[in-house]
Amino acid sequence: MANKNLNAAKEAKKDEFYTQLEDINNELRHYREHFSGKTVLCNCDDPRISNFFTYFAYNFEFLGLKRLITTCYKNQDMDLFSQNKSEQAIYLIYDGDKNGNNIPDPEEIGIHPLKGDGDFRSRECIELLKQADIVVTNPPFSLFREYVAQLMEYDKKFLIIGNQNAVTYREVFPLIMENKIWLGYKSGDMAFKVPADSEPRAIRYWQDETGQKWRSMGNICWFTNLDIEKRHEDLILYKNYSCEEYPQYDNYKAIEVSKTSEIPGDYDGVMGVPITFLDKYNPEQFEIIGATENEATDKVKALRIPGFIKYDRPYINGIRKYARILIRKKK
Ligand SMILES: C[S@@+](CC[C@H](N)C(=O)[O-])C[C@H]1O[C@@H](n2cnc3c(N)ncnc32)[C@H](O)[C@@H]1O
Repeated sequence: MANKNLNAAKEAKKDEFYTQLEDINNELRHYREHFSGKTVLCNCDDPRISNFFTYFAYNFEFLGLKRLITTCYKNQDMDLFSQNKSEQAIYLIYDGDKNGNNIPDPEEIGIHPLKGDGDFRSRECIELLKQADIVVTNPPFSLFREYVAQLMEYDKKFLIIGNQNAVTYREVFPLIMENKIWLGYKSGDMAFKVPADSEPRAIRYWQDETGQKWRSMGNICWFTNLDIEKRHEDLILYKNYSCEEYPQYDNYKAIEVSKTSEIPGDYDGVMGVPITFLDKYNPEQFEIIGATENEATDKVKALRIPGFIKYDRPYINGIRKYARILIRKKK
C-alpha cells in the first residue's frame, strides 16, 4: 500500500511543470478573435502560479472576455508551489476590472471552495466546464487521453498543450483525421518551471541563478479546435516525383516521403509522411487516410499489399521504417 502511494505521488510529480507566460503569449496572439464575449476555463491551474490565469486576467479587457474561471487541483496553501498537498481545492471567478485600473485586484476575484480536490473529472468541475466556451490550459500529460475525451464529450472549444506523441494515441489520431482536432502554431522545444522538490534529471534539467528549477521537453505542441490561419496555408510543394527518390513500400500501396518538405507536388497517389507533417497539415490541400501504426481502418487495410507478414509499420526492401501517416493530395 505504501509503495502504491509512493508510486502515485511519483506519477503526480511528473505532471507538475508550469507553462511560461511568454509561450502562452506567443501562441494566444493567433487566436484573439475567438475570445470576444467568451467564458474561458483554465481547469488544471493553481491561479497563484498559473500563467494561464495571469494571461487571461491581465488581458481580460483586451480580449473582451465575459468571464474567467480557474480551478486549482488540491493545493490550497498560498505558500506552497502547487504540490497537491491539500485535498480540498478552490476555484476563482473573474468578471473583469471594476475599479478602472485594468488590473485584476484581489477584491475583484471571487475565490470559492470546491467540495472535492478539483479533479477536472469531478462533477463540480464538470459543472464549471459546462459554463465555459473555451478551455485553455496545459493539462496533466498522464491524463491527456481522458482530458481530451471529456472536452469532446462536452463539445468544448479548446487550446491545450500536450506531447507530440499524443497525436498517435488511439483516442486522439481519429479526431485529427476527422478534423476535430489540429495542431496550433508552436511545436518543438518548450521550457517549464518545476517545483523546488523536483528530482534532478540527467538531461533537459537545470537550475537558474535564482535557484528556480527547470526542465524542457523537445516534443511539445498545442492542440486546438479553434480555427487558425495556419490551417489554411498551403505547403509549397517544390519537388517532383521519381520512383528512385520515393520508393513504394513492400507492404502498403504508398510511397515513402521521408521529409514533409519534400512531398512531391505531382504525385496523386498515397504517400507515407512523418508524423511532423501534422504541423503543416491543411485539410484543403491534403486528406489523411490513416496511420500505419494505429489500428487499421478499412481505408488503410485497402492499401495493404497482400502476402506481407507485418503491417505495423511500412517496410522497404524488408527494412522496417518509421511510423508514417498516410496522406493524399486533394488538389
Ligand atoms: C503540466 S501541469 C500544468 C500546470 C498549469 N496548467 C500550467 O500550465 O502552468 C498540469 C497540472 O494539472 C494538475 N492536475 C493533475 N491531475 C489533475 C486532475 N485530475 N485534475 C485537475 N488538475 C490536475 C497538476 O497538479 C498540474 O499542476
